Amino acid sequence: MTSQMINAAASGTWKLGDRTVNRIGFGAMRLPQTGAALSADAVPRDRDQAIGVLRRAVELGVNHIDTAAFYFSALRSANELINRALAPYPDDLVIATKVGPGRDPSGRWMEHAGPGQLRGQVEENLRQLGRDHLDVVNLRIVGTDAIAERFGALAELREAGLIRHLGLSNIRPHHLAEAQAIAPVVCVQNMYGIGASREHAEFLDLCGEQGIAFVPFYSIAGTGRETGATAGDSPEVRAVARAHGVGEAQIRLAWTLHQGAHVLPIPGTGDLDHLAQNVAAGSLRLSEDELATLDSVTHETA
Ligand SMILES: NC(=O)c1ccc[n+]([C@@H]2O[C@H](COP(=O)([O-])OP(=O)(O)OC[C@H]3O[C@@H](n4cnc5c(N)ncnc54)[C@H](OP(=O)(O)O)[C@@H]3O)[C@@H](O)[C@H]2O)c1
Repeated sequence: MTSQMINAAASGTWKLGDRTVNRIGFGAMRLPQTGAALSADAVPRDRDQAIGVLRRAVELGVNHIDTAAFYFSALRSANELINRALAPYPDDLVIATKVGPGRDPSGRWMEHAGPGQLRGQVEENLRQLGRDHLDVVNLRIVGTDAIAERFGALAELREAGLIRHLGLSNIRPHHLAEAQAIAPVVCVQNMYGIGASREHAEFLDLCGEQGIAFVPFYSIAGTGRETGATAGDSPEVRAVARAHGVGEAQIRLAWTLHQGAHVLPIPGTGDLDHLAQNVAAGSLRLSEDELATLDSVTHETA
């Protein structure tokens, strides 16, 4: 079967709260612009192209899309594109968003939201997505500060029915424990992929033991972060890719998927061919030897 036809169901499924999703999802951060994301001088992407990618993702079985109100360029916003492309939304589609960070209308970063500002950020997502509740809201934090007040504010919005499920992003294990004393956590969204440290791998395992989804970001981009995938991968990744006749990005995703049934990657792209390849990565099976080779890259570079 060519990669153009492989469905996201090939990656298996996971229950995110009460919603079942295919493990390969999609991250919307790349859609508002071409080139580096979240940059003030980003070039807005062609609207029809972005909408085409979102619709194709859903046709390919993707039913877990990650977004944020702060994903925008001068002329496009990820939430507006999702709304335009996919509303009325399919019943099985889970849209996860993030609150905490914020950008002013010109794109400049603002101070992170305090507990009193989170309701406004949730409502901003509701308006942009055209929904009356949000499936999953992640509290995205920086640093190691206590999160109880902010997570408590989101738990109240969950009680009020504005949010179905809560998650956390960019956190350490102690944040997870702190949040769980307040309300259930269905997912942790942290940076993860080949090259991740042992400490991060242990946190991924801890989430699995607790039945919490681990949603890795930058599984392809790695240290390229907002700028995107860098040209030239490690010899190990290249060799495994060659053996399977696929691209390095697919091997990065396949390795990530092999880290546990609770791992739900959300690769981002504005390219239809890359989208199909990323979905198809869910059907790749790596051998024990290949996994060990790729693990060695992980621990050498950690
Ligand atoms: N919670 C957080 O703090 C946080 C932070 C960052 C991101 N995120 C979320 O995580 C998602 C994933 O991050 P990301 O978008 O950077 O994803 P990524 O999948 O790690 O990397 C995307 C980069 O890889 C390229 N790419 C994608 N598929 C490819 C393929 N098959 N072959 C070659 N290159 C490929 C993309 O360029 P092309 O467009 O050319 O394909 C882009 O440069 C974001 O979209 C966002 O939703 C969350």
